[in-house]
Amino acid sequence: MERILVIGCSGQIGSELVLALRKKYGSNNVFATDIKNPTDEIREGGPFQNLDVLDYNNLLHYVVRHNITQVYNLAAVLSGNAEKIPLQAWDINMKALMNTLQVAQESQAKKLFWPSSIAVFGPTTPRHNTPQLTVMEPNTVYGISKLAGERWGEYFYSKYGVDFRSVRYPGLISYKTEPGGGTTDYAVEIFFEAIKKNRYECFLSEDTALPMMFMDDAIKNTIKLMEADGDSLSLRSSYNMAGISFTPKEIASEIRKHKPDFEITYKPDFRQAIADSWPASIDDSVARKDWGLHDEFGIGKMSAHMLKKIEEKIAG
Ligand code: SER
Repeated sequence: MERILVIGCSGQIGSELVLALRKKYGSNNVFATDIKNPTDEIREGGPFQNLDVLDYNNLLHYVVRHNITQVYNLAAVLSGNAEKIPLQAWDINMKALMNTLQVAQESQAKKLFWPSSIAVFGPTTPRHNTPQLTVMEPNTVYGISKLAGERWGEYFYSKYGVDFRSVRYPGLISYKTEPGGGTTDYAVEIFFEAIKKNRYECFLSEDTALPMMFMDDAIKNTIKLMEADGDSLSLRSSYNMAGISFTPKEIASEIRKHKPDFEITYKPDFRQAIADSWPASIDDSVARKDWGLHDEFGIGKMSAHMLKKIEEKIAG
C-alpha cells in the first residue's frame, strides 16, 4: 500500500492534488503538509501537519515515522515573485528540492514527483511547438532553478536510484486555490474578475501566447506519470506538457461568449519580459508516447467550467 506525502498542500496544485490522491489511495494514506494553513477540506479530510520542507531533519523524521513511500514536492516561489527576491528564491527552490532528493536517497520513500515548468526555456529556444530536447537558456531565477532541478533529479536517479519523475507544467488554470506570483496567473485572475467586475486589466499584452492547462487535466496526468511503469519512462529529467496555447485576447473573446459586456484592457508590467522569453506552444509527443499523457479540456470547455465554478463559489 502506498503512503503518500504532499509537500505544499495549501498551494494551487497541492490543494487539489491531495483531494484526488485521497480519493484514490484512501484518506489515511495521504499526508498533507505545508507551512501555510490548508483549506478546511484538507485539514478535516485526513492527516495534515505544519512542516517546513527546508528543515531537513524534521522532514526525514516525518517520512520515516509515517512509512511514506512516495513524495510530491510542490513547494516553490513562482516566476514573478522570484524576480523580486532572486537569491532567496534560488535558496528556497533549490533547498526544497535537494532536501526531498536526499530524503528519497536515505529513506524508503524512493519515488519523488517534482514539478518543472515551461520556464526552463529561454529567449533562444524555438518558440513554437518547442521540442522536448532543445536549446535551454532560461533568463529568470525561477527558470534557472527549474532547469538545475531537472538536472539534479536525473542525477539522483542515475547515481542513487531515486525514482524521480517530473513534468514541465504550462500555466495552470484552476478556481479552488488561486496561484500567487506567477507569470501565467493572469489566466486565472481574468475569470475571477470577469465574474466580480465584468472587466479585467491584464498585465500581459493582448497577443502574448502561452501554453496553459486546466487543473483537472494537470492532476490526472501527474498521477498517471507517478503510476506509470518505470521501464516505460525514457526520460528522468522532465517531460514537456503542452496543454492549450492562447493569448489574453483569445481568452477574453471566449469569456464574451458567456458575458458579452466583458471588457479587457492591457497594461503590461515586468512579467511581460518573462512571458516573452517562454514558448508560445509546446510539443509533448514524448510524454504521450512514454506514459500516455492525454488532456481533455480545450479553451471552450475550460472557460465555461471556470466561469460556472467561480460564480458558484462567490455565491457561496
Ligand atoms: N505558472 C508558473 C509561473 O508563471 C510557471 O511555471 O511562474
